[in-house]
Amino acid sequence: MDGYTTDVNYPAFFYKEMQPVWLSCVSRLLGFAAPDVARPFSYCELGCGLGVNLLVAAACHPHARFVGVDFNDRHLRVARAAAQAAGLSNIEFVHSGFCEFAASHPGSFDFMATHGVWSWVAPRHRAGLLDCVSASLQPGGLFYLHYMCHPGSTDLLAVQHVLNLFAPHVPGTSAQQVQMGLKLLRQLAERGLFVDQPGVLKHLNSLHSKDPNHLAHEFLTDHWQPQHSVDVHQQIGALGLGYLGSADVFNNLDASLSIPGQLQGVVQQTQIPALAETLKDMARNSHQRMDLFQRQPRPLGREDYVAQLGATLFQQLPGAPAGGPVTFSTPIGPIEAPQALCTALLLRLAAGPASFSELAQLAAFAGQPALLLQTLQLMLMQEIVHPGNPAPASGHSQAHGLTQWFERNRIALKVLAPCGTAVRIGAAFDQAR
Ligand SMILES: C[S@@+](CC[C@H](N)C(=O)[O-])C[C@H]1O[C@@H](n2cnc3c(N)ncnc32)[C@H](O)[C@@H]1O
Repeated sequence: MDGYTTDVNYPAFFYKEMQPVWLSCVSRLLGFAAPDVARPFSYCELGCGLGVNLLVAAACHPHARFVGVDFNDRHLRVARAAAQAAGLSNIEFVHSGFCEFAASHPGSFDFMATHGVWSWVAPRHRAGLLDCVSASLQPGGLFYLHYMCHPGSTDLLAVQHVLNLFAPHVPGTSAQQVQMGLKLLRQLAERGLFVDQPGVLKHLNSLHSKDPNHLAHEFLTDHWQPQHSVDVHQQIGALGLGYLGSADVFNNLDASLSIPGQLQGVVQQTQIPALAETLKDMARNSHQRMDLFQRQPRPLGREDYVAQLGATLFQQLPGAPAGGPVTFSTPIGPIEAPQALCTALLLRLAAGPASFSELAQLAAFAGQPALLLQTLQLMLMQEIVHPGNPAPASGHSQAHGLTQWFERNRIALKVLAPCGTAVRIGAAFDQAR
């Protein structure tokens, strides 16, 4: 449809970063007031695919309302069947393109999100997506936008171009076409095609083990375009939304942890925000971004920030290590956190959820709230710890029903209502992840 793959289904993927509990926690950690997920709220996902992310959110928040929009009815049929099987009455899937949705459903949402869409669709659909946000995001509401970015994705442009040109000339589904295209590229690589582009070769080899349906959606669109983050921020800024930071918490860490050593000083000294953001993407060789924006941003005053951060609950996830030290694998290499800090935190959280204020009283962090915040963010990133769902008593039967539907459909996810998320089954904590 308009150059977008529709003949095979996109796989069932889950991203913790899209969940309301996570988004509101990250926005608070960044110093901005977030919609309160303990109270009724509304959430819309644009381009929801099979709806996995939205289904998890709806199961964990029965008191909230969820809407998924997609122009692929095959995807929505699966999503609706899952909602029905899990007994979710607070979710609706709307069969619509973005342009039509913006014109016909002027809703009002506290959260709007889109993942795996922006850098894959034609400019008119990106404009439609922006119209949806412009028409429907409440003041103070959060917008999550995922996209491929420069410079990490730049060297795939030529690969995508070949795959897109080749596909219409081979028979079969788009999943088969993309596999044929990759085979051709590997044959050419053996003959030295990418000899001076080791980055492309590395990418090509990493695609080998991926689900062909995923690859078809990823590479066969006619409008594949990584973005410069500053351009995206400018477009979203024109709607009256401000950039808060990343939903991927690693990127919000202090530059001393999240930028390779020799570049830290340069990035930290840069006074021009757009330049600093670009340099960060370059220093990290970022290939995708999960940006978090707020309509009419609501920065918290110092007192409110301390109070709201202090009240934020944290909980250990299944498979967390019993003690430290912990080696965190980050996009710029491994970071080892000291044994005393990790062990103190892990032992306390093994005993049950705790607020930031309670954790700040641990002897290992005495008088060092910034160090606690940093350690927690690394643990959030590595799925050792998760923010607690402030309405933990709710959603248990729906969460169970959805987990059962996942099981029947061989989707290795378990819904965790007390955290407002899902975890991969069998994904015991792995330091090499
Ligand atoms: C790559 S999938 C991502 C699905 C889901 N967000 C996820 O991350 O798992 C992109 C989805 O966006 C939908 N989509 C693409 N362009 C669209 C448009 N213009 N209007 C509505 N849906 C669109 C596709 O049908 C597809 O289901």
